Amino acid sequence: MKGIILAGGAGTRLHPLTKVTSKQLLPIYNKPMIFYPLQTLIDAGIREILIIIAPDHAGDFLKLLGSGKEFGCKFSYEIQDKPEGLAQAFVIGENFIGDDDVTLILGDNLFDDDFSQAVKEFKTGARVFAKQVKDPERFGVVTFDENHKVISIVEKPKEPKSNYAVTGLYVYDNSVVAKAKSLQPSARGELEITDLNNVYLQEGKLDVAFVNGQWLDTGTFESLFEAAAFARDKILKQ
Ligand code: G1P
Repeated sequence: MKGIILAGGAGTRLHPLTKVTSKQLLPIYNKPMIFYPLQTLIDAGIREILIIIAPDHAGDFLKLLGSGKEFGCKFSYEIQDKPEGLAQAFVIGENFIGDDDVTLILGDNLFDDDFSQAVKEFKTGARVFAKQVKDPERFGVVTFDENHKVISIVEKPKEPKSNYAVTGLYVYDNSVVAKAKSLQPSARGELEITDLNNVYLQEGKLDVAFVNGQWLDTGTFESLFEAAAFARDKILKQ
């Protein structure tokens, strides 16, 4: 199993914080944001990691993270020239993925859970990780049956059919590269991860696991503030 951290995007919603740096380099209590999703992959047992970054601050990521040796990992880097969607990670990452399965984590998502079991148990198809939230319309929303087979997955629906948000962690088999390449850009010009998940769903190969601990998508000032408190609490509990 290989890993990808997607840390592209311009972070314009967080201006002026992100005017001279990348969102995923902003401090969350005592560490840059990207350290948290990186640790989640490492804790899940993943050591070969591709970091996909926007061109603007690519050198800063390299300076911060280096070869990966310091983390007991091997890091590779690719540039996403424009924010053309999460699913583009698998087109950009084709050579890196090779013949392996791959876990994608978004560079601005913070998790409490240990996903090593979910990654180890994964055999084929695709797995998303859901969390009950108060504001599902902000996210991908998933419905599923009693065997955790997915029934529907919809991107930011106006009238959500459940309150289970799809979090920014995804596990895919090797067919993800071909599937991502077959996608058409959405109305906002992006290769949508939800469209990719729908390809797996149509093949009956999409299942859902659950996030038990805290989950934060640090896309707003409010969630950045919460994330710092989350990180501080975690350290104080240790
Ligand atoms: C993206 C995905 C969405 C998912 C979310 C998790 O949304 O499109 O399905 O629920 O990440 O963080 P974005 O954060 O790009 O709006």
